[in-house]
Amino acid sequence: MIPSDFHRGRRLRSSAAMRELVRENEVRPQDLIMPYFVVETDDASFRKEISSMPGQYQLSLDELEKQVARAVENGLRSCILFGIPAAKDELGSGAYAEDGIVQKALRRLKDRFPGLLLIADTCLCEYTSHGHCGMVRNEEILNDPTLDLLARTAVSQARSGADVIAPSDMMDGRVAAIRAALDDAGFENTPIMSYAVKYASSFYGPFRDAAEGAPKFGDRKTYQMDPANGREGMVEAAADLDEGADILIVKPGMPYLDIVRQVRDNFDCPVCAYQVSGEFAMIKAAAGNGWVNENAVVDESLVAFKRAGADMVISYFTEEVLARMKA
Ligand code: PBG
Repeated sequence: MIPSDFHRGRRLRSSAAMRELVRENEVRPQDLIMPYFVVETDDASFRKEISSMPGQYQLSLDELEKQVARAVENGLRSCILFGIPAAKDELGSGAYAEDGIVQKALRRLKDRFPGLLLIADTCLCEYTSHGHCGMVRNEEILNDPTLDLLARTAVSQARSGADVIAPSDMMDGRVAAIRAALDDAGFENTPIMSYAVKYASSFYGPFRDAAEGAPKFGDRKTYQMDPANGREGMVEAAADLDEGADILIVKPGMPYLDIVRQVRDNFDCPVCAYQVSGEFAMIKAAAGNGWVNENAVVDESLVAFKRAGADMVISYFTEEVLARMKA
C-alpha cells in the first residue's frame, strides 16, 4: 500500500521552467568581483601564470589593462587589486607610495574604464620584507603603530581612484583609523569593505605564491582568526561595523558558509564572501584531472554563497563565469 499523505517535492522540479520559477537564488554578473595581481616591472609585456592558480596571472600595467578590457567587454562590473612591488622593506612603503604599483594601476584603470568599480585591497604584507601585515619588532606584529601606515595606504589608494577600500590586515582598530583618515582627506563618501571575519587559513596558500607575500617567519595566527571560532566572528563583525565599515567580508568562503549565514542573520549590511585561492586551486585541480565538471562545480559553489546569504562574491572564476553568462 502506498501512503497518500506524503509531501510531493518533485512536483516543483518537473521541468526546467518549473525549477526556474521556484528558484530562490541566482548569481548575477554584478555580484561577482574579479581579483587581479599587478606587478611593478619595466617589462611592459610581463604576464606570468601563477603555477598554483592555472589561468590566473601576475600582470604588468599594460597587460592588466588589456585583460580588464576583455573582462569589461564580457560584463565585469568590479574588481579588487593586489600589488606586487619591485622592492620590499620593513615598513611596506610601497603600499602607500604615491607612485606605488596599485596607485598606478588605479589611475590607469579609472581613466580607461570610468564605469568599473575599483576596490583596493589595503594591506602591507605584499610590501613588507618580512611578509607580515603589520609593523614588526622582535618578531612581534605591532598593532597600533601599524594603523597609521594602513590609513596612509587607504588615503593614497582613494586619491588614485579607488572606489572602495578593503582592509585585509586584521589589525584591531584599522577600520576606525582608515575611516578617520579618509574623512579627513575629503573621502567621506568612499566606502570601507572590511575583511571583518578573516581566518588564519591554509586555503590562502596559492595566493601567497601569486602575491609573493608569505610571512618570512611565524604565521598570521596572532592577528587572523582561529578557524575553530564562529561566535568570535560576530564580535569582529560588530566591531568593524561600529568603527564604520560599510560592507563586511567573510574569508575564506566555502569552508565558512556557516559564518556567512551568521553574519547575514546578525547584521543588516551587505555581506561579501571571498572564494579564496585555495578553493580556486582545488576546483581547478580536480577539474583538470577530469574528476569533476568544472563549470557545473563553479556555478554550484557560487550559488551556494548566495544561498548562505552573501550579496556578492570575490572569485577568481569571475572572468570565466561572465564569459559563459554572455555566451
Ligand atoms: C593579504 C591578503 C591575503 C588574501 C587576501 N588579502 C593573504 C593573507 O592574508 O595571507 C588571500 C586571498 C586568497 O587566498 O585568495 N592580507
